[in-house]
Amino acid sequence: MMVRACNRREVNIYLPKYSASFLLLAVFVLIFILHNMDFQKHEANSTIILPSFSSDPYMHHGFCTFQPLSSKDALEEDLILDSIAWPETPALTSLEQTSDPAHSSFTILPRRGGGQWHVGDRLEVLIRMYDFQGQPKKSGGDFLVTRLHDLKLGAGVAGKVVDHLNGCYSAVFSLLWEGSAQVEVTLVHPSEAVTVLRRLTSEQPDRIYFQSVFHSGSVSETTTCNVCLRPTQQPLCNYTDRHTGEPWFCYKPKKLSCDARITHSKGGFKENLKAEEKKLFQSDVNMKVSIQASGSASVVVLPKKTDVKNSDVKCEHCGYYYQGAWRALGGTTVHQFNTSSDIRQCLKHKMVHLYGDSTIRQWFEHLITVLPELKKFNLHTLKQVGPFIALDYANNTLVTYRCHGPPIRFVDVPTSSLRYIANELDGLPGGSNTVVVLGIWSHFSTFPIEVYIRRLQSIRRAVVQLLDRAPGTLVIIRTANLKALTLYEALTNSDWYSLQRDKVLRAVFKGLNVHLVDAWEMGLAHDLPHSLHPQHPIIENMIDVILSYICPEKGS
Ligand SMILES: *[C@@H]1O[C@H](CO)[C@@H](O)[C@H](O)[C@H]1NC(C)=O
Ligand SMILES: *[C@@H]1O[C@H](CO)[C@@H](O)[C@H](O)[C@H]1NC(C)=O
Ligand SMILES: *[C@@H]1O[C@H](CO)[C@@H](O)[C@H](O)[C@H]1NC(C)=O
Ligand SMILES: *[C@@H]1O[C@H](CO)[C@@H](O)[C@H](O)[C@H]1NC(C)=O
Repeated sequence: MMVRACNRREVNIYLPKYSASFLLLAVFVLIFILHNMDFQKHEANSTIILPSFSSDPYMHHGFCTFQPLSSKDALEEDLILDSIAWPETPALTSLEQTSDPAHSSFTILPRRGGGQWHVGDRLEVLIRMYDFQGQPKKSGGDFLVTRLHDLKLGAGVAGKVVDHLNGCYSAVFSLLWEGSAQVEVTLVHPSEAVTVLRRLTSEQPDRIYFQSVFHSGSVSETTTCNVCLRPTQQPLCNYTDRHTGEPWFCYKPKKLSCDARITHSKGGFKENLKAEEKKLFQSDVNMKVSIQASGSASVVVLPKKTDVKNSDVKCEHCGYYYQGAWRALGGTTVHQFNTSSDIRQCLKHKMVHLYGDSTIRQWFEHLITVLPELKKFNLHTLKQVGPFIALDYANNTLVTYRCHGPPIRFVDVPTSSLRYIANELDGLPGGSNTVVVLGIWSHFSTFPIEVYIRRLQSIRRAVVQLLDRAPGTLVIIRTANLKALTLYEALTNSDWYSLQRDKVLRAVFKGLNVHLVDAWEMGLAHDLPHSLHPQHPIIENMIDVILSYICPEKGS
């Protein structure tokens, strides 16, 4: 069966539905803006961004109100919001009319110019979405991820998906290895589920809620806290950080003062979804389900043609697996640090400071496991929260970890140990022996994206200042990654939320002298299942990437 005709448009460019003159104007405005901002190395032609201007200095999102930004940050926020805009998605009318991976299919398109596939070619796949009744979908917005892989070769690369907004999608892959390669297409969420996820963000940004215990003398009280609290008669305690402006509020306890707050905890999750809507999030039906090929799903790739000079592999931080090892395309060559002595040698005389969520803590734990000499000092802190310190005294290596400030879904965190990353960086002298590793994304999923944009803008301000005062400092940033999804996970931490945050992170740090660990692609390209905390072989590869940034000379 052939995939039913798709009126696909040119794959490279995504043109929104605006008139050409408006677009020209918009591009002109954009160029003007970019010209006036220090967005170094920004590729104006990679995405078309339409700025939108708001006259209201305070941003309102339901009951979430954000403080005004500087005009430069506000403009950037607008640009980012437009650049991550997801296509319109349909509302749920009947489940029968929603995207069904079992009825949908993909086809590998013949090679452009005919003939056999070679390394360096671009492979294009056309995906046609159907609903449960077998009717072709007519709108876009389904969340699809794709990869090309071969289990025997230990090879894998993520594909780029283009939404043609009419039920058809293209996926584009670079052919990077010789031999066999199989295409895998996965529906993460049908477009109708994205509609629900979006609505939850605007209507229930407090569906994950937090609590603080207030304590003084013999009196204890517990109240609810969040980034945004619903207005009630109860007065608020405002814990907005004086220095960074990060918002945080608790309802004021009845007897105690705001100063009596001693702990921070995740309170729980308020699920508020209709039974019918929950059916949009069924594993094995319509959440993270593979779409089958209508013909062959694999190709055989021949060696690179010698007469072709340039392969059209366009990548920024991406790479691919070959024989289980991650190879970066462009930028730093990834070396393998197979033995603990390789790693110890690389970290000699280094102070490595890790800040972020549990996906960063995983790296701390990995390092102290593979380096027995790197001894963790018992600070009697919480396992999830830290702070942690580990020291290899003989080799003068220090590794520290600290979790980022609220929102953070941990339990019983002493408020005295809550720190915002930007403030921590401000207290760091930096220098050529200092490595800063940041990873912050997963605890932001339930909030309006502005909360995350502003958090990153404040971290970036601190990173820029750190690099100004100590240019030798190495700054490495971990991106978000895909994870295993259940209904609960989808509503509180869906990959769709992570994708938006991943794009924001890349945009905010673009052009700065920082290095990325592309956890998104490293997880997606690998044969192991998606996991919030990726499995050991992926972590080893990530550590190789980090150590290759720290010790680029190794093995070369
Ligand atoms: C457009 O993109 C290409 C390839 O990514 C890049 O080489 C070129 O510099 C870009 N041009 C502009 C004007 O940004
Ligand atoms: C909270 O405090 C910050 C300054 O610390 C202030 O700018 C903000 O307006 C306050 N928010 C509310 C809702 O009172
Ligand atoms: C690391 O180990 C892999 C396989 O175990 C091997 O292919 C590679 O050559 C080793 N790299 C170094 C630098 O020793
Ligand atoms: C680094 O640590 C190893 C193992 O503890 C030790 O054998 C070596 O002498 C140390 N190197 C230096 C330069 O101190």
